[in-house]
Amino acid sequence: MKYAKLLSLLSLLPVISAASSSSASSAASSASSSASGSSSTSAASSTSSSSATSSSPTSSASASSGSTSSSASGSAWVSDSVTFTTISGTPVTTVSLVPTETGAISVPFSKYPFTPFPTPTLAPNLLGYPSVDPLEPPPVRSDGPQDIPDFAPAWAAAYEKAKSMISDFSVEEKVNITTGVGWAKGLCVGNTPPVRDFPGFCLEDSPLSVRFADFVTAFPAGITVASTWNRELMRQRGAALGKEHKGKGVNVALGPMMNMGRIAAGGRNWEGFGADPYLTGESAYETILGMQSSGVQACAKHFIDNEQEHFRTQVSSNVDDRTQHELYAHPFLRSVMAGVASVMCSYNLVNDSYACNNDKMMNDVLKREYGFQGYVMSDWQATESTLSAVAGLDMTMPGDVTFDSGDSYFGGNLTTFVHNGTIASARLDDMATRIVAAWYYVHQDDEGYPAVNFNAFNNYDEATNGHVNVQEDHYKIVREIGAAGAVLLKNERGALPLNKPKRIVIVGEDAAPGLYGPNEFADQGGDDGVLAMGWGSGTGNFPYLITPLEGIQERARKDGTGVFWNFDNWGITPEPGTNPNNASQLALVQDAALVFINADSGEQYINVDSNEGDRQNLTAWNNGDNVVLNTAALNNNTIVVVHSVGPLIVEPWIDHPNVTAVVWANIAGQEVGNSIADVLYGEYNPSGKLVYTIAKRPEDYPAQLNDGGVGQEIIDVDYTEGLFIDYRHFDAKNIEPRFEFGFGLSYTSFKYTNLKARKVGSTDDAENALIANWEDGKATPIAEGSSAALWLHEPYIKVTFDIQNTGDLAGTEIPQLYLHYPASAAEPPSVLRGFANVKLVPNQLKKVELTLSRYDLSVWDVVDQGWRKAEGVYTFSVGQSSRKFLLKGTLPL
Ligand code: BGC
Repeated sequence: MKYAKLLSLLSLLPVISAASSSSASSAASSASSSASGSSSTSAASSTSSSSATSSSPTSSASASSGSTSSSASGSAWVSDSVTFTTISGTPVTTVSLVPTETGAISVPFSKYPFTPFPTPTLAPNLLGYPSVDPLEPPPVRSDGPQDIPDFAPAWAAAYEKAKSMISDFSVEEKVNITTGVGWAKGLCVGNTPPVRDFPGFCLEDSPLSVRFADFVTAFPAGITVASTWNRELMRQRGAALGKEHKGKGVNVALGPMMNMGRIAAGGRNWEGFGADPYLTGESAYETILGMQSSGVQACAKHFIDNEQEHFRTQVSSNVDDRTQHELYAHPFLRSVMAGVASVMCSYNLVNDSYACNNDKMMNDVLKREYGFQGYVMSDWQATESTLSAVAGLDMTMPGDVTFDSGDSYFGGNLTTFVHNGTIASARLDDMATRIVAAWYYVHQDDEGYPAVNFNAFNNYDEATNGHVNVQEDHYKIVREIGAAGAVLLKNERGALPLNKPKRIVIVGEDAAPGLYGPNEFADQGGDDGVLAMGWGSGTGNFPYLITPLEGIQERARKDGTGVFWNFDNWGITPEPGTNPNNASQLALVQDAALVFINADSGEQYINVDSNEGDRQNLTAWNNGDNVVLNTAALNNNTIVVVHSVGPLIVEPWIDHPNVTAVVWANIAGQEVGNSIADVLYGEYNPSGKLVYTIAKRPEDYPAQLNDGGVGQEIIDVDYTEGLFIDYRHFDAKNIEPRFEFGFGLSYTSFKYTNLKARKVGSTDDAENALIANWEDGKATPIAEGSSAALWLHEPYIKVTFDIQNTGDLAGTEIPQLYLHYPASAAEPPSVLRGFANVKLVPNQLKKVELTLSRYDLSVWDVVDQGWRKAEGVYTFSVGQSSRKFLLKGTLPL
């Protein structure tokens, strides 16, 4: 059995008692002012930082001399260095009696030299793609090849300014840039202090709103915007979110969240973009480009493998290197390519080492291989040690070790570690530079960047909350995404769109408002009325909430339709009752019964109906299955609408002959009622597609929630399914799903013809050797930024085909391109590698162009540590889902 905090070498290293002051800035200066350790050292070696954290510490016999003391906490500590020699002959200095939160320990002391990664990381852009500023990203393209923006020059310029700003900062000042002021000690959920001309940061959730603020928009969740498969909407939502954060004075908006939905019941899946790395990556990419175009820093989270809420701080996600690269890390690579300013490391352990203490993931993969130039912040209280800085952590949030503990792993401890030479001052410079550079990079130094004008901890404090209204007309985007993200799963006997029905009955509490208003639960931690958000930090306050009842009634009024309802989920019985007004009587006689059901989940710190974040099961909440069955027993035109955080088992009713239509409406935000009315009445012809598989049985999914563990135990979650998550598993094992990934119907029909695929010439002569190497089937050599290299991501194969609208209604088709690797690659049978969004009026035909890059065709070679083409013939399919392929081709390699 393993126990928390006893795992990684780094987390065993000293935790020095910091100042008890509530502000990290005073903690930093007070601890250091009394520190008398040896002066800081300059980086001694020229190796890249992966060696900086090598597990064999460099000789440190002279690392700490004499005693170091701090009386700031009231418990002065004195340490005497002792040198001993290990069996391999390395001299190691230990400091005895270092007080920690858990008592005095004796630990090895060492020096960790550091050489910063080069800036800019990427080779100069020779591909003819635009060198861009994050405020002016390339235009979004829905049905053509994507531009590859080159942010390297913008980063380089920002680094110059940042280096110059901090050049005469003291150690304490630089430490302050990296250390949050402590939980609830500022106006935002995270705050860093001002240091001279640098104003410090306001960091604020969430991926769908400005959390804890008023007069902001409650956007559809990530899962819903992903279900649109529409890059334009992803970008627009990102830009509007960014604008609202900026308007409130937020510097860093804590999103997008891009964990992968490995487990169907995962509590936070709805914050993310579904169960496919490619779709998640593209959704994150567009969201970040949008957010940062508005001038706010985005934060790609949670890095990495934070796939379940249960025991989230005590779960070791054990993931093999190939799966990590191809699945879980991929959206972060796309985030880096979108120029993301910050990344948040996660609570869990990755292969037995805490994610925020993980040299492999932060230094080696993110900073070296991906060439990430921004900074890594911890999730809230996820920092594990001061030496996490050596492993690549740049900022600790919210600053204190635990909320309100009054101490910090950074702050005074980091100051001391730099002064006594344990942590190289070059590393501290690097941390501060990255943070300040991110601020310059999105031009937050411009005069006129709003100061924080809300109070996350007290909305009603007139002294700090300016009640600035930042909503503009963003409700329009919300309404459109809600409709475009709704997935039509079943539509028989022309049930939809509704065509001036005479009388309808609306059934189920999910159609109605909650009893005490849209914000009746803190952080939305409850399920009452229509579900338009999950719960946890990934939420916001609704400014208002249009229910399905409201949206439908407004439409019904135009048609003169009679509307009846019953919102009592336990009050619909199949036997007509004696009361002529009860729902069972009413349901018998209406043209259509619209039944609304839901399923909720969220973050671990709130328990709703015994669901501690993750869902306990995959069934509808509040008697939902019976609400459908009991209504369908009475009405032969029962139309089911589902608002769900993730997959449900729909077997109890999906084949019921009276269930004529099903709309999977996801988690749609403040306009949920209007969005669903638009779909039901055909104002919006459904075009959404599932972003996960809906299975017939829970056990059909490849991975299940691990709900074990007691006390401080670390539980192991082995990702034994490897590359085979979601549809990849169903395909490989030939398991028939109820609805496959990518599935979704329309009110019109489409025809696909004229498939062609051709190789396009490279524009990058300078990288010819690398290209030839790759074409030879060899792994691309690893280097700074090698995984983000432009030659690897430029268009390599162009695929074209025609789509025609063959039905009677205008509509949008989402063609999907799936790659079938040669058998030698040992990949899943089909993997998504492209999609488009094609709007067509009846009879209209359009040519669609999708491109594949060398990266898209590669596998991660764990031996050679690079991207490699597989040996053999590559084929591909284009079609309407991960199983409905309409065109097939072979790649001309
Ligand atoms: C969540 C993060 C969030 C942070 C700040 C944590 O509990 O995991 O996603 O950004 O809190 O609220």
